[in-house]
Amino acid sequence: MKEEVRLGLLGGSGIYDVAFFERFETRNVDTPYGRPSNPLKIGRFGKQKVAFLSRHGKGHEIPAHQLPHKANLWAFKELGVQKVVSTSSVGSLKKDIRPGSFLVPDDFFSPWNILTYFDSRVKHITPSFNEELRRGLIQAGKKLKLTVHGNGTYVQTIGPRLETRAEIRALSTYGEVVGMTVASEATLANELDLGYASLCMVDNYCHGIEEEPLTYEKIVQNQKKNARNAKELISKFVGETA
Ligand code: HPA
Repeated sequence: MKEEVRLGLLGGSGIYDVAFFERFETRNVDTPYGRPSNPLKIGRFGKQKVAFLSRHGKGHEIPAHQLPHKANLWAFKELGVQKVVSTSSVGSLKKDIRPGSFLVPDDFFSPWNILTYFDSRVKHITPSFNEELRRGLIQAGKKLKLTVHGNGTYVQTIGPRLETRAEIRALSTYGEVVGMTVASEATLANELDLGYASLCMVDNYCHGIEEEPLTYEKIVQNQKKNARNAKELISKFVGETA
């Protein structure tokens, strides 16, 4: 019997590849929603087959507000994937959640631009993150002695611009971190009955949390080191859940 791919990895900012495939095949998947961000890579890690997709394209050509989220999640489903783990870059809304640490959200706040597969049939899901995946990510981080915050609310903004100080003051009453992708992915994954969790890399304090203004260059600078740790954590996670 043909072996199925059960786990999908969606690499976010700073993570455009995985190091752990010895060999992999590249698969172009067409979906009713167009092509995903990039061809998927399917390979073996430990005992399981894993599919990897770089969310922003080969490098980082696709900006957050233009991402083909519907095609991305659909492509995983089509391959037989049951669980999806993503990485994502976030800003911190709280002084004690420091850049360089990680957060695995247990809730999200995103009432602005809600994507759905249910445009022409009536179905209402209650979105959630998958607890088993969340626990696995938290444990993998602990084993590597990385700082992983095990709870927190992810607030999704639309982008591509960063937030104003006034927006951050307001958003800090809603959650712990801000990013532009995870709520959309979690919603669509849930609609497809896929378990979903995200490893958020805290790349910066949000604008106005520190005196100094936030710039994109500052985010990218921190991202390089965080992405190295995130890759290690994801390898550990996949290795241990095989
Ligand atoms: N705001 C929104 N998205 C982000 C940020 C931020 O500060 N950092 C990384 N992604």
